[in-house]
Amino acid sequence: MDGRFVGATVTAEEDMGTTGVAGVRVAGTRDELPGPDGTFGRVAWRWPRRTVGVVRPDDPPGRWSGGGVVDGVKPVLGLTAQEVTEVLRAAALAPSVHNTQPWRFRLAGDRVELHADPARRLPATDPEDRELRLACGAALFNLRVALQARGVRPLVSLLPGSDAPGALAAVRRGGTFQVDEQTRALAAAVPARRSNRKPFRDVAVPVGHRQALVRAAERERSWLHVVGDPTDRARLQEFVARAHRIQSADADVRSELAAWTGPDRDGDGVPPASAGLRPAPQDEWALRDFQAVERPPGKDYESDPLVVVLCSFYDGPLADLQAGQALQRVLLTATTLGLSASFLSQPVEVRPVREELRRALGGTLVPQAVLRIGFGSPVPPAPRRPVAELLLEPTTTR
Ligand SMILES: Cc1cc2nc3c(=O)[nH]c(=O)nc-3n(C[C@H](O)[C@H](O)[C@H](O)COP(=O)(O)O)c2cc1C
Repeated sequence: MDGRFVGATVTAEEDMGTTGVAGVRVAGTRDELPGPDGTFGRVAWRWPRRTVGVVRPDDPPGRWSGGGVVDGVKPVLGLTAQEVTEVLRAAALAPSVHNTQPWRFRLAGDRVELHADPARRLPATDPEDRELRLACGAALFNLRVALQARGVRPLVSLLPGSDAPGALAAVRRGGTFQVDEQTRALAAAVPARRSNRKPFRDVAVPVGHRQALVRAAERERSWLHVVGDPTDRARLQEFVARAHRIQSADADVRSELAAWTGPDRDGDGVPPASAGLRPAPQDEWALRDFQAVERPPGKDYESDPLVVVLCSFYDGPLADLQAGQALQRVLLTATTLGLSASFLSQPVEVRPVREELRRALGGTLVPQAVLRIGFGSPVPPAPRRPVAELLLEPTTTR
């Protein structure tokens, strides 16, 4: 097994039980289901947001399940309803652009299905839903780890087609899993991980840590390019700055940012407490402006963060889902090593800049996410939707 993709078929990875299935057929309405290739097309719909409440990752499980047993969460994959709730809660702790949390789950017979939530698209920022699928891939990785930590070997089909119409992934029970130290560490990192937009300490990331992150991406059939060369770094900084300018001049991108971040957002999204510093001209990396409070005088970002580009080996929905899983393995591995990370997504969101970045990487790798990594101070968790809101079937709380 060489871990490469052949056509639309993903080769299986023994230890995580990942299988991909080719030949996708999807039934249903376009507003509910992704197209045959897992995309929603290029139509810039604006969907009403449906937020019934928010919870914090460190809230007790009762709040996550709406204060009781959630109707619709039933025993599947050999787990109790309570365990299934915990597994879904872990999946929902994945990162997503502007904390849109664009995932939903269907508990169906022998499987858990992962679906995109079209109400949470960002048509201007992410017109091709690439980052939506990255986020869903990250949620899928959390789900895999949460199942493993409970002794279940997950068997994953990506874009399962008629097996689970409209789903981005279907997860079945592939037998029992012998829980090891690494799985325990990754599972413990799920609620501890958070995006850290604050300055990091001016301490270099040790080579051994860097290698662990590179290996984490490789285990998920992806590539982590470390941008170490000063010329390459300057070039990437220029890409980030240029894409940032393009997005700042786009009223639709600005309005999505305003709807999901800052004090006037609706329910979840990115709260001001999760913002980094207010941008200043001396910043080397153009971070997104999350409406932080005034920047204290003399406060600056670290001089030399580890900057990496997570890449897939090909383009398209399957690659995005695979890269999302790699992204989350990298982020959770970083958490286990005491590292923090934040995103610099502008150059992968603005298509012409993404193409330039792709060429700068040699033309064969597909850039999926740009991360800044270092030793950060603690930051508060971002809110999440409660589990009841994530179930595709109608739910009521007993
Ligand atoms: C694909 C993707 C792109 C993201 N891009 C950015 C970004 O450009 N800037 C940023 O500050 N955060 C970015 N984020 C981080 C999200 O804002 C963050 O995951 C979300 O607010 C939830 O917070 P948490 O990561 O602390 O759980 C991105 C996340 C994902 C999955």
